[in-house]
Amino acid sequence: MCGIVGVVCKENCCDYIFKGLRRVQYRGYDSVGICQKAGESIQIDKTKGLIDKLIEKTKPLKGAQVAMGHTRWATHGEVNEENAHPIAGKNQQWVIVHNGIIENYSSLISQLQKEGEIAKTQTDSEAIALLLSLNNFEDPIKNMLWAKRQLKGSYAFCAVKKQDKNCLYAAKYKSPLYAYCNGEIAMVASDPICFPQGDYYKLEDGQMCKVSDGKIVFYDNDGNIIYPSKQKYKKISSDCDKDGYQHYMLKEIYQTPEALARLAKNFLNTNFDKLKKVKFNKVKLIGCGSAYHSCLIGAEYFKKYLKTDAEAAYASEFRYSSEIINSKTLCIFVSQSGETADTIAAAEKAIKKHAKIVVLTNVLHSTLASLGQFVFPISAGSEIAVASTKAYSCQVAGLYLLVMALKGERSFYQSVRNVAQLSKTLEKFFINMSDFAQDIYQKNKIYFIGKGCDYITALEAALKLKEISYINCWAMPAGELKHGTLSLIERNTPVIVISTNKSVDDKVMNSALEAKSRGAKLYLISYNPPQENQLENFAFCLSLPKCCQPLKSILAIIPMQLLSYNVSILKGLNPDMPRNLAKSVTVE
Ligand code: G6P
Repeated sequence: MCGIVGVVCKENCCDYIFKGLRRVQYRGYDSVGICQKAGESIQIDKTKGLIDKLIEKTKPLKGAQVAMGHTRWATHGEVNEENAHPIAGKNQQWVIVHNGIIENYSSLISQLQKEGEIAKTQTDSEAIALLLSLNNFEDPIKNMLWAKRQLKGSYAFCAVKKQDKNCLYAAKYKSPLYAYCNGEIAMVASDPICFPQGDYYKLEDGQMCKVSDGKIVFYDNDGNIIYPSKQKYKKISSDCDKDGYQHYMLKEIYQTPEALARLAKNFLNTNFDKLKKVKFNKVKLIGCGSAYHSCLIGAEYFKKYLKTDAEAAYASEFRYSSEIINSKTLCIFVSQSGETADTIAAAEKAIKKHAKIVVLTNVLHSTLASLGQFVFPISAGSEIAVASTKAYSCQVAGLYLLVMALKGERSFYQSVRNVAQLSKTLEKFFINMSDFAQDIYQKNKIYFIGKGCDYITALEAALKLKEISYINCWAMPAGELKHGTLSLIERNTPVIVISTNKSVDDKVMNSALEAKSRGAKLYLISYNPPQENQLENFAFCLSLPKCCQPLKSILAIIPMQLLSYNVSILKGLNPDMPRNLAKSVTVE
């Protein structure tokens, strides 16, 4: 899973590639590379690590009018320079960059080996470069077509042929690919945010294109020229500046109030009449990572406020489950990026089963959004840090507003006011978590406990902290701790207690004290400061400001996000780019 960018232009091709690569780094950043082509001379530079390192080592190739770049999230083969893209076929006849997974690569490579094409990397992508190099058709599009027909899996790839004029070729199947042309510069990329100002085209599965000087020709699955009806898209601005913050993650946490205010306003201007007419008897909410956690909270809203049978599912599980889904099932897919492969595949499955499809996403031009019958933006604004923060809060608030819209007009208007009020409350509630972080950052395991929605907040808090601190974090339903996990509690093991629901506060405290009796060091996030005589049980107590019950989960997660950030900094890590992860996981 990776980001690709290709350009054909008169000069400065490297700049377009580097700029583009920075913008698609959310798709992976373990290694990066660029190929420049001037006439028949090809120059490939690649490196393990980030773009700045590549820029440092890349000398612009004189006269280069074609270039393509790649930022990698390794799926096949170790993270090293050899496995980084661009990858060349025999004698650099063809060079490619690829996003996706070639599922039949191993049989292809052994077949190719018999024909004398020897793989030099451990990647699945090399199969594409070798296949392209195997034949010498006069028209390079024929090579593309032929190679494409051998491939199983998913791909958006970009290729150049050594003996070709100033052209590059690209093909798409189940991985996103966009094209742009303004008469002077022609580009392809995994995301339109790579392009300069203007409209762009979205390629469909099976389609290919030939990008040449100021021109793009599109082809269908059989190689026939097509003229994509001016399926133009508005450029989405990408907020790439840190605005004085040290990291995107911090900036994005601090942007939560404005994002929630925007969400409330946008929902207020949304017409829910069509959705209200949909008859359903069951709701499935589906997502991955933090989006899955917002689905868990969404399911609670459906059960509580609409008395509807609702359940959250991991997209990666849902797509293979034998779950009964039919036209009476409302399937809600939640995804910040709208490009998460598992969530897309789950949506495709639900469509086949005739379920009603609702999509809640931050990216309206995404693949997932194109699959929804009802699409609602979470309006978080661009989120760059890998760990989701403001987008998570907007997902939770968006699901709340959606449920309330289905409940009725009065409830809906009240819910919009509640979200707007929460936005105001949050503006004054960015507290300093550095002392708390100082206390825990050297620990090697941390537990989070809560009940009901607080347990879900505990899950999200544990995910956030583990993602960016590499500390082993566990979330447990408070009452479940004693059924096994308590054996892991040692002297001074941190247990972070989240308790925002008065009706079960005592129960949560009981579980916390059981842990304390076994040596745990307790930290409390709650609305009700503990009784005087209980205070000594906690190393840290944080009282949350007033807020309506359904939105307390959002208020409670903010200090946990800030805590994770501070821990990551104390450990000397980069919270924006944790090891092994990517912002958007576009492969299974
Ligand atoms: C990746 C990210 C997570 C994110 C998940 C789902 O795993 O690292 O932070 O929650 O994908 O992403 P989505 O774009 O579908 O919300």
